[in-house]
Amino acid sequence: MTISIPIPIPKDEDYVYPVSHLDLCKPLISTTITHPAIIIPAKLTSSIRADLKKILMNRPKMRDIYALSPEVAHSDASIDPKTERKVVLTNSNSEYPGEKIFQHPAIEKLFNDTNQDLATVRKSSHDVVIGYDHFTVEEVLSKLLPKEHFTEIPSSFEVIGHLAHITLREEYNPYKYIIGRAILDKNKGIQVVVNKTGTIQNEFRTFPMEILADDRKPRKETSEKKKDGIDLNLLVEVKEDGCKFQLDFEKVYWNSRLQFEHRRIVHTIAGKERPTNMKKRELKKAAKDKDSDQDMKESSSSSQEKIIVADACAGIGPFAVPLTSQFDHVEVYANDLNPESYKYLEINSKLNKCNHGKKVALHTYNMDGRYFLRKLDEDGIKYDHVLMNLPAIAPEFLNVFRGWKGDYNHRPMVHVHCFAAKVGGEEEAVKRCGRNLGCELDMDKDEVYVHEVRNVSPKKNMYCVSFRLPEGVKEVEQVQEFGAIVSNENDDEDEEPPSKKLKA
Ligand SMILES: C[S@@+](CC[C@H](N)C(=O)[O-])C[C@H]1O[C@@H](n2cnc3c(N)ncnc32)[C@H](O)[C@@H]1O
Repeated sequence: MTISIPIPIPKDEDYVYPVSHLDLCKPLISTTITHPAIIIPAKLTSSIRADLKKILMNRPKMRDIYALSPEVAHSDASIDPKTERKVVLTNSNSEYPGEKIFQHPAIEKLFNDTNQDLATVRKSSHDVVIGYDHFTVEEVLSKLLPKEHFTEIPSSFEVIGHLAHITLREEYNPYKYIIGRAILDKNKGIQVVVNKTGTIQNEFRTFPMEILADDRKPRKETSEKKKDGIDLNLLVEVKEDGCKFQLDFEKVYWNSRLQFEHRRIVHTIAGKERPTNMKKRELKKAAKDKDSDQDMKESSSSSQEKIIVADACAGIGPFAVPLTSQFDHVEVYANDLNPESYKYLEINSKLNKCNHGKKVALHTYNMDGRYFLRKLDEDGIKYDHVLMNLPAIAPEFLNVFRGWKGDYNHRPMVHVHCFAAKVGGEEEAVKRCGRNLGCELDMDKDEVYVHEVRNVSPKKNMYCVSFRLPEGVKEVEQVQEFGAIVSNENDDEDEEPPSKKLKA
């Protein structure tokens, strides 16, 4: 097979270039670029480099100073290897491009200096071979993808721990392993690149994916790669808001773009002031002195009333874990229907010491969110806040509150996430909540507040509607059994990631 770049669209429409094809293409994308340079006395190298700092060649993985190595000697026989060095200058200074750099004031000053040591300073040049290793991912893909077919470079991705997640459009399919490998090679810290191969289709909000590039070696034998049915490469650890979260990206829902919403809700519920490390240390010391875990808890929460939260669709715990690990006055009842999410919720609870010593602040459940809320009511748990973050159908879950049997002097704040239109979406979302509660929400009396969470697609936003449970639900007939809710909206939650224009 003859290798050429750009890599042609394959005749067989199902053909996918193997990643080895990238290796064959690498020599073809190398180019030699000549940079201006100067020869200087070796003993003055550091002071001259400091003076020319702003106009030195600046290319990743390349030095700007050369001793007389064999290859330099070949290209410039006038250098005395023992006493001289070559300093390579930028060729892309906006005011002094290319050879004009010799007219730069810093260079002219050097040439005009009367110091005898500088008498031998002279102009030179240096050939730089720029290859795959020195290009950015955009530059590599711009050279490899045929411009007549593609106008954009699919180089944008989301990072989840050591994993990069991309959503490639179908036309990039023949190049998917090459694109994955280029992203992996060019981004430190990334060890696996996965491609979303379909839309969110199930109630657990997970989506099908494939691995495009993988640099993570299984710890022992390949048999370890699929431990407990989990591909270890998709097991990641992420940090958010001072907490660590473990998750299996293939099996549970996680969206790093929700980090600000997670933090907003945590602040809304618990207040902004977190115990700083300093305060924590002081509290720990006090607790130790009094030899009681309980004292510590009381001293930290004495000024704040206890807050109870019911998180009906908690996922792996991005609300519940910070609320209970960082605030001593918050207790959370957290639930998720997905057994895998429940598993990681428990793991993350332990990892972040949500329940510690005598403190039991995070209670975990694995059931349908509506039956979970009903159970809390039946068990007499008085919650101050309810979280329902399941945007496609959460407003429909509100029928659980019809005929609510709780304490109407202590009506909880409910925070419901949903998708709605960009234009008029706030109003539509509030009405949808009212319809499912079985009574209208009063904007003032029920303290209704709609927050725009994020842009989802050209016509759709994600919102969070917060309100105090309206007294009107008391008069509505209770729902006894909750069936499956089928969402008729496009369930693909995320818009396509932005792409960059293909470079000429
Ligand atoms: C959009 S995710 C949000 C998870 C988490 N709150 C977050 O911010 O990452 C929705 C979660 O609801 C869970 N879920 C789906 N149907 C459910 C149900 N009927 N009852 C409880 N949880 C449900 C899914 O498994 C998923 O973890």
